[in-house]
Amino acid sequence: MKSSAIAPTNIAFIKYWGRKDEALRLPVNGSISMNLSSLTTTTTVEFSDTFLSDKITIGGVSNAKESSRVVEHLDRIRALAKVSTKAKVISENSFPTGTGLSSSASGFAALTVAATTALGLLLSEKELSILARQGSGSACRSIPDGWVEWLDGDTSDSSFAQSIFPAEHWDIIDVVAVVSSGRKDVPTSEGQKLVNTSPFQKARSGGMKQKIDDIKRAITVRDFTLFGEIIEAEALNMHAVMLTSQPSLIYWSAGTLEVMKLCKTWRSEGLEVYFTINTGQDVHLLCLLSAKEALMKKLKQLDFVKDIIVSTPTKGTTVSNRHLF
Ligand code: PMV
Repeated sequence: MKSSAIAPTNIAFIKYWGRKDEALRLPVNGSISMNLSSLTTTTTVEFSDTFLSDKITIGGVSNAKESSRVVEHLDRIRALAKVSTKAKVISENSFPTGTGLSSSASGFAALTVAATTALGLLLSEKELSILARQGSGSACRSIPDGWVEWLDGDTSDSSFAQSIFPAEHWDIIDVVAVVSSGRKDVPTSEGQKLVNTSPFQKARSGGMKQKIDDIKRAITVRDFTLFGEIIEAEALNMHAVMLTSQPSLIYWSAGTLEVMKLCKTWRSEGLEVYFTINTGQDVHLLCLLSAKEALMKKLKQLDFVKDIIVSTPTKGTTVSNRHLF
């Protein structure tokens, strides 16, 4: 009754921001992402009749708010397995939590696979993705391998993620420039609820289908310039909605803006790199593997960049033999 799983987080190139169904976490649009090799969560879950209550520890801390979302997810999984057994959950991230590096994606993907395996549920990848989505939307994209599309769907059963290419399809790297270790003030789940208060959301939704087709084409033919132009414009488009929500959501800091501007300067000097940003201050920089050393050299010269995390595309969530207790 004890199992562990390791899950990568993922970076969305076409983003999920806003839900058409809050309870089921159905997104207003589909999204496209890539799993990240260096940003992972490992989770061990044990169910036992000797436990009187669920005990959740994330990064060595038991926090009531985070625990309640985990317990809700355990309840979904217990309902599927038709049991009421309590669980012990220990989860560790390979990176800082709550700073915008999408720990909820890897966290809920790892929890879904560890808990269903511990209860002996034999679920398909699609079923695991649907289940993970209900814990945290973006978690559904961390289940399949490599390059992933989340189909928005109109029902729970039709809203899931699937691999569009394996990790090896394209030698692209994601380099996170960590500019802050502070936690964000408005959690992503709360921020998402404000999407329709922005006057720009209607325009954003209108262009989504075309954008998804365009980026899939860029990935298919490995056109890095087209890919980069789309992802940077898309990140700014999503942040335009956030900035103009009521109340406004400003997830950037001075360091975020500095890296965004430098990225454009470096590009004008011949280093082909593009940025994307989620709900945090840290910036994801995308470049071809061949440009890695040149980019690292630039970033290492910036004293406000506190850490640099390099990831390659990687496989999805897997069962692990490494138990945390
Ligand atoms: O799954 P959530 O609630 O953590 O939302 C993720 C939202 C973004 O990271 C901003 C965009 C995305 O598609 O990952």
